[in-house]
Amino acid sequence: MDPSAKHHLSLSPTIKELRRSDFPSGFQFGVATAAYQIEGAAYEGGRGLSIWDVFSHIQGSISDGSNGDVACNHYHLYKDDVLMMKSLGIKVYRFSISWSRIFPDDSEQLNFEGVSFYNNLIDCLLDAGIEPFITLYHWDLPLWLENDVNVRGWLTKGIVEHFARYAGSCFKLFGDKVKNWATFNEIRTMAVEGYGNGSKAPGRCSISALENSKKTTGDSSTEPYIVAHNALLAHGAAVQVYRKFFQADQKGRIGMVVDGKWFEPFSVTRQDEDAAQRCIEFEIAWILDPLFGMDYPDSMRKGAANRLPKFTDEELAILHGSIDFIGYNYYTAYYAEHIEYDIEPSQRWHETDRMANTHYANSEGNLIGECMGPPDNDWIYNCPWALPKMLEWLRQRYGKQQLSSIPIFITENGTMDDMEDMPRHVACNDLKRIEYLKATLQNLGACIKEHGYNVQGYFIWSLMDNFEWNSGLRSRFGLYYVDFANKQSRYIKRSAEWYREFLLQNDEKN
Ligand code: NOJ
Repeated sequence: MDPSAKHHLSLSPTIKELRRSDFPSGFQFGVATAAYQIEGAAYEGGRGLSIWDVFSHIQGSISDGSNGDVACNHYHLYKDDVLMMKSLGIKVYRFSISWSRIFPDDSEQLNFEGVSFYNNLIDCLLDAGIEPFITLYHWDLPLWLENDVNVRGWLTKGIVEHFARYAGSCFKLFGDKVKNWATFNEIRTMAVEGYGNGSKAPGRCSISALENSKKTTGDSSTEPYIVAHNALLAHGAAVQVYRKFFQADQKGRIGMVVDGKWFEPFSVTRQDEDAAQRCIEFEIAWILDPLFGMDYPDSMRKGAANRLPKFTDEELAILHGSIDFIGYNYYTAYYAEHIEYDIEPSQRWHETDRMANTHYANSEGNLIGECMGPPDNDWIYNCPWALPKMLEWLRQRYGKQQLSSIPIFITENGTMDDMEDMPRHVACNDLKRIEYLKATLQNLGACIKEHGYNVQGYFIWSLMDNFEWNSGLRSRFGLYYVDFANKQSRYIKRSAEWYREFLLQNDEKN
């Protein structure tokens, strides 16, 4: 398949069925989760509070009024969950560590109960033949760091040494058994949604930025840039710790998980093509460029001007080459349409710094991809054609040679059913999810084969329905259904059966 071809909604015509053997034999298949979204036990095991415990309890923050206090109760049910994973035939599991389970308060004394929980989970995974792939930070900052006036969460560089210390402790505690580390999950999302539009913890944005919003704190035109900058520096510091003290003995790899939608020009005009490029730069290149030794993209320097922090030479040198792999979360694509540069500051929270309008449909009204349902899903469109385009974009920007030694893992891919009280039998009959996953995998497999992209793994988001941040428990992303009203019982969905069949039936042939 030619990734530069204009998008097409049908699947690559050369591939009819999906087989494990369409992928290289060492290619790893897995599932992904994150601590706050599944663990529950928010007040157990010596865990300290995080910014999500506070945010999710503020009335109006979560669309269905739920929170992560219990979530999937994975803290207590992890053994069953590992059995579930084993039955799927996955070989790798991506999950995150809750920082405030490890360091509950500002004494920065280890909480041994938290440590044993993760040790037990890791041991259980290894016994099941599943490799752990750990994200150190998946958005649940310990509250004591948010409240520390000298640190103020991600708003000051004070956070850097704390993160490096936390990361170092995790390497020391778990690194003999864990060989895959991602420092951060989606810095862009945490910066833009936590500090730009305020839809995620810590819910900061300015009153002018969000009409009718009760949220009054923060400067949403500047804070996302500061937050992302400090998170990048924290990443750099953690990687230095790993490389200096642990990597040689532990022989693991460390990288980062980024996100970024694909943007297709709204019309075939130079202006819209530039707009699409700017959007991609404001999403994925914002975070990745510095890791490849570059400053922030020119479009961002131009758009955000002096609101964008500056790196010192030393900082850039630390970030340059600080990833052994790229984790990329791929979900969907949008159209980008040019708009003029000078945006009202009050609009900036909405990432209009990207200088583009984004659309789901083109001017003829054709959707960018099939809208995933049932019955409602407001941001994921099935665009399997866009993943190859993004891989090619990454190769063009960062170089074929460089990317041949820095593998890519698709660290998340999935879709949701978004409906309160969705009947279980409907949720479990999730043929659309199968279609979406299969189409993405077909295109991924084909383009690895045909273009030799160094993609080494793929994780479905998510193992089971869980707490989907500001959309709460109603947005179901799982391969397994979770009955939140009934002891968090898990039920297999058709998509899990499909994944299992794909992985196990073909397994012997590889
Ligand atoms: C990305 C995030 O990493 C994950 O936490 C979230 O649940 C999924 N996308 C789906 O929105």
